[in-house]
Amino acid sequence: MTTGPKAVAEQAADALRSHTGVDAYDIALVMGSGWAPAADLLGEGRHELPASELPGFLAPGVEGHSGTVRSIVGGDRNVLAFLGRTHLYEGHGTDAVVHNVRTAVAAGARTVVLTNAAGGINATYSVGMPVLIADHLNMTARSPLTGATFVDLTEAYSAELRAVAREVDPSLAEGVYAAMPGPHFETPAEIRMLRAMGADLVGMSTVLEAIAAREAGARVLGMSLVTNIAAGLEGANLDHEEVLAAGRDAADTVGRLLADIVARI
Ligand code: 6GU
Repeated sequence: MTTGPKAVAEQAADALRSHTGVDAYDIALVMGSGWAPAADLLGEGRHELPASELPGFLAPGVEGHSGTVRSIVGGDRNVLAFLGRTHLYEGHGTDAVVHNVRTAVAAGARTVVLTNAAGGINATYSVGMPVLIADHLNMTARSPLTGATFVDLTEAYSAELRAVAREVDPSLAEGVYAAMPGPHFETPAEIRMLRAMGADLVGMSTVLEAIAAREAGARVLGMSLVTNIAAGLEGANLDHEEVLAAGRDAADTVGRLLADIVARI
C-alpha cells in the first residue's frame, strides 16, 4: 500500500464516499474561526462526521483537532464543508495542514473556498468586515510541496471567483493576506513590517492550503473575516476570545454572503 500524502488523501476520499454515498463533490469549503455557523446557511447537511474518522486527519485527543466534515447535497451541486482546520502551529507539519484540501480534490472538488479569521492591518478595515483575499504573503517559511513542483502562483486566488463574489456584494474589499506561523500574535513592529510589505490582513492559516489547491489544479476563493485590528494599530491588546466573539457576531452576515457566493459558483 502506498502511504504518501496524496495516497492517504485518496483513501480519505474513498472513506468519505462510503460514509456519505456521494460520488463526487463540486465545491469544498474550509470554515475557519468564526465561519462554522455560516455552514448552516449553505443547505442541509445530510451527513456530518468527525474528520478523524477519515484516514490522515488528526486522531481525537491529540493537540488541536481537525473538526468535522459536512456533506451538503443540493439540487445541482455537492458541497463538502470542513468545519475547523489543522494549523501549522499545532506542530503536525504541512501535510496535516493541507490534508483537507487534498482530500477535497481527491473527492472531485475543482473549487476550494478558504475562510479564516484575520487581524486587520489596512486602516480602512473594521471588525466584523469580510474581505476577499486577492493575494498572499507566505511568511511561514514552509511549503506543502516538495521536490520539483514549481507551481505557478500568479493567480493563486481566482480573479474570476472574486468577480463572482463582487457581483453578490459590490462593496466587498479585497486585500493581501499575510500568513504568520503563530501561535502568538504579532508585535507592533512586525505589523509595521507586514504593512510595509503590502499586507492588509494577517492570520495563521490559508496560504498552505491555497498552494496545495493550486498544485492539485483547483481554483481558490479566499475570504477573511476581520475579527480584530492587528497589534499596535489601535492600542488595545489582543486576545483569542475577542477573535471568537467577533466571529460569532458576524456569523449571520458573512454566512449569508458566503451562501450567496457559493450558489453562484
Ligand atoms: Cl492580529 N494575527 C494573527 N497572526 N492571526 C490572527 C490575528 C492577528 N487576528 C486573528 N487571527
